[in-house]
Amino acid sequence: MDSIERDVVIVGAGASGLTAATELTKAGLTVAVLEARDRVGGRLWTDDIDGATLEIGGQWVSPDQDALIETLADLGLETYPRYRDGLNVYLGANGERRTFEGEIFPVAPATEREIVGLIERLDALVAEIDPEAPWKHPQAKELDEISFRRWLETQTDDEEARRNIGMFIAGAMLTKPAHAFSALQALLMAASAGSFSNLVDADFILDRRVKGGLQQVPLLLAQRLGDDVHLGSPVRTVRWDEEGVTAITDTLQVKARFAVLAVPPVLISRISYEPPLPRRQQQLHQHLSMGFVIKVHAVYETPFWREAGYSGTAFSPFELVHEAYDNSYHGDPRGTLVGFVSDEAADDVFRLSPEERKARILESLSHYYGEQALNPVVYYESDWGSEEWTRGAYAASFDMGGLARYGADLRKPVGPIHFSCSDMAGKGYQHVDGAIRVGRETAAAIVQTLAGAAR
Ligand code: FDA
Repeated sequence: MDSIERDVVIVGAGASGLTAATELTKAGLTVAVLEARDRVGGRLWTDDIDGATLEIGGQWVSPDQDALIETLADLGLETYPRYRDGLNVYLGANGERRTFEGEIFPVAPATEREIVGLIERLDALVAEIDPEAPWKHPQAKELDEISFRRWLETQTDDEEARRNIGMFIAGAMLTKPAHAFSALQALLMAASAGSFSNLVDADFILDRRVKGGLQQVPLLLAQRLGDDVHLGSPVRTVRWDEEGVTAITDTLQVKARFAVLAVPPVLISRISYEPPLPRRQQQLHQHLSMGFVIKVHAVYETPFWREAGYSGTAFSPFELVHEAYDNSYHGDPRGTLVGFVSDEAADDVFRLSPEERKARILESLSHYYGEQALNPVVYYESDWGSEEWTRGAYAASFDMGGLARYGADLRKPVGPIHFSCSDMAGKGYQHVDGAIRVGRETAAAIVQTLAGAAR
């Protein structure tokens, strides 16, 4: 077993851990980053699949994500917009196909009024929520005791309006059914993106992509850190006391003054702690779980929908693929569609054989785009549920009541151990922007503690 000493040991080479490591080295501290996988990036993974460059994990950048945008500029990375010219498609309850422009789906006028009213009410509530401390809202406890589905039922009897509004948070963001998370958790999701209206606006939330892929961010950060990043090094044990930590992998142990656990919260308890983490942490980590979504990539000889005047943007709360977009890769003349199959619908199709699953998913895409969608030249399903070092997608959220009960302690350090990941962010929650923000804040907190100790 090799043994090294550093000021800070960082567990996890995702965007958050690598940002923390970068900031700590800028402050003159020494670091070692221990990464379980044989690659950096965690939930950012750009790969070549059968000759097509695909974003297996996160990819979109929205205009409010200034921490991510600053990092892209610092790394010299360029972005390009998502293709969005032309008509969008919406499928109603009976499968009827309607086209539309703008954000509001082409539904019956009464349903449209309900949708607009719900968006206004949600925007007003979201404006009262501090994404850094949603538990401080005067009604936090009540809002955390009611499921988002039940809350929507208290607001309108219109099932289509409820399903559409529910979809933006449930299927599209937390990737859990709307009965499985609270109204407070839904408000945090919207507050973290600035407003509920921002989540509804695909042109805002899914605005731009990075040339070369978003995994460039962790790859370039890791390149700067050089030999301080150790791949294939899952941390099995963390020994700690008030003076410092020792992080132990199968082949290396790192003694340090501080540790940053930059792993999804569901994986914190995968590590053994000597002594065990305090009661509060052992409890609270059990109340967070990953959502689950299949990101489906279908590459075609041409972007045939564009030729027919369509943007490629498609939605339906009644379809297996509840949302889909033109996701053609920069510089590739072929056309790529990306679709999402979320939570219980994803469970259902994973009971099928791969061939049956592919057929069901492509059939759903064909309901939006016509029969040409049935025959992609490249087809791929991102399945993060089977990834040992992630275990779901996109990120983790609290169970009912968990946010008001435990949220304030989520990022509280335990002695020399700090916690950092997108799942613990306020602004940018569940997004790369949040991972970077928390990484920066965690590094700043450690630097400040050291400065205080030196005084
Ligand atoms: P992340 O999970 O990336 O990193 C944690 C690291 O810790 C991993 O590398 C893991 O291997 C490692 N690790 C775990 N346990 C360990 C151990 N015991 N020892 C050592 N290492 C260990 N966001 C966005 O902004 N725009 C988007 O379009 C999307 N879309 C999207 C699609 C899909 C399919 C996914 C899965 C996710 C997104 N996201 C997204 C979310 C975004 O990708 C995510 O929030 C961040 O990349 C998370 O970064 P973190 O560093 O916080 O965790």
